[in-house]
Amino acid sequence: MAVHVVDHPLAKHLVNSLRDRTTRPEAFRQMSRTLSTMLVFEATRGIRCDSRVVETPLAETVGDFLGQGLAVVPVLRAGLAMLESALILFPDVAVGYIGLERDHNTAVAHSYYCKLPNLADRFTLCVDPMLATGGSASQAVALLKANGAKPVVFVSVISAPEGIERLQRDHPDVEIYTAAVDDRLNELKYIVPGLGDFGDRLYGTM
Ligand code: PRP
Ligand code: URA
Repeated sequence: MAVHVVDHPLAKHLVNSLRDRTTRPEAFRQMSRTLSTMLVFEATRGIRCDSRVVETPLAETVGDFLGQGLAVVPVLRAGLAMLESALILFPDVAVGYIGLERDHNTAVAHSYYCKLPNLADRFTLCVDPMLATGGSASQAVALLKANGAKPVVFVSVISAPEGIERLQRDHPDVEIYTAAVDDRLNELKYIVPGLGDFGDRLYGTM
């Protein structure tokens, strides 16, 4: 499935401001929210619409309305930075949570929490700002599918080629929306140039 890079000038400005090591947590959170709004907006293009009659003050017409429930599932903890954008754009969204944490030595993610709503027939967004090795994303999407989600769209801020390849291999049906595809992973499996540890920069835990 396709990888969509949201390359609006504002998205580029925001992602490169997030990269800046001098950006403080408060500004980091604010810019993450704005960028996530743009990403969620684009990532939900495929949501089903239904037509129905609407009466304007002047005439009767037929128009499209959202016809499918939406679910958003942030991967804790960094994914929480992207949740509020979905809540603002889609107030009726159902929210689930998946807790995954990479081991600092092996970079393999282990699951420590999972609480999901019924996802059957919901257009489901999995949001996690960093797609590095793709191990976390692949595990998260597998959990969502096991709970009936279809389709699943994965939304990240920065993606590494390695993570995209892994997610496409494990889940070829999942579309990816991201603001940047970076060069590579380093020996610690961090994205380069990247922005460092997103969760630490978001919550000031460096
Ligand atoms: C980060 C990020 C992803 C994961 C990506 O989370 O938010 O979940 O790493 O790496 P991967 O593609 O190699 O699996 P982290 O494990 O650092 O946890 P945190 O969000 O709690 O800081
Ligand atoms: N997680 C992050 O927060 N940053 C990376 O570069 C890789 C994984």
